[in-house]
Amino acid sequence: MKYHVIIPAAGQGKRMGAGKNKLLLELDNEPIILHTLNIFLQDADCEKVAVITQKEEADVFSGFINKLKNNAKVFFVNGGQERQHSVYNGMKALGNEECSVVLVHDGARPFIKKEVIRQLVKTAEETGAAIAAVPVKDTIKKADCLQVKETVERSNLWQVQTPQAFQYNVLWKAHKRAIEEDFLGTDESSLVERLEYPVQIVESDYDNIKLTTPEDLYFAEAIIKKRAFS
Ligand code: CTP
Ligand code: MG
Repeated sequence: MKYHVIIPAAGQGKRMGAGKNKLLLELDNEPIILHTLNIFLQDADCEKVAVITQKEEADVFSGFINKLKNNAKVFFVNGGQERQHSVYNGMKALGNEECSVVLVHDGARPFIKKEVIRQLVKTAEETGAAIAAVPVKDTIKKADCLQVKETVERSNLWQVQTPQAFQYNVLWKAHKRAIEEDFLGTDESSLVERLEYPVQIVESDYDNIKLTTPEDLYFAEAIIKKRAFS
């Protein structure tokens, strides 16, 4: 099943504290963004890859990316102020002529598995909206000024990741509604949920971490080592 993917890569990586876009940091001798992109470039079902970058960084990114195999699928789009704006720019650039399913996947998640992508595309094609997630492992408490108020029932809590997959028209409508209502969400699903459109969960795995703070780079090295031995 064919799909297109939008890769937001226009952040500043403030929490990583590297003084530059974290996606240009190296992991196993390659910039993080290349690890993420290669997964989609090697997937025959993936037809187009919209890489969203800050305007000033487009040349640096294209310098790396243009050397990759199958890079003809890639095109570059300027990012926006917030992640949501970056994704919207990607939606506008893609258009909906020949594509039914569009995925959004953070450039900062280099460990997504092909099988999860396949399942997301299938579910989005059937239902309109599907997101990758894993069951919450820790006990979660609600607190007010460091005082515990409540232990939240964990059995129905999910930790949400990307990719998030949608029929193009569903996500487009969700973005339009968010603009009208001045709503800013941290993921695409939250925009679609506001349409009261059902969103399906596809169970992913705990390796699909988002590289956010410096410790995550140690976890990433460990995942790479584990994969080399399996
Ligand atoms: N992103 C984007 N456009 C923005 C902000 C973020 O395309 N205006 C991208 C990032 O490059 C990243 C993904 O969205 O791949 C997830 O965002 P996050 O992990 O928060 O990355 P940063 O925004 O770069 O990090 P921070 O919030 O720590 O500054
Ligand atoms: Mg951010």
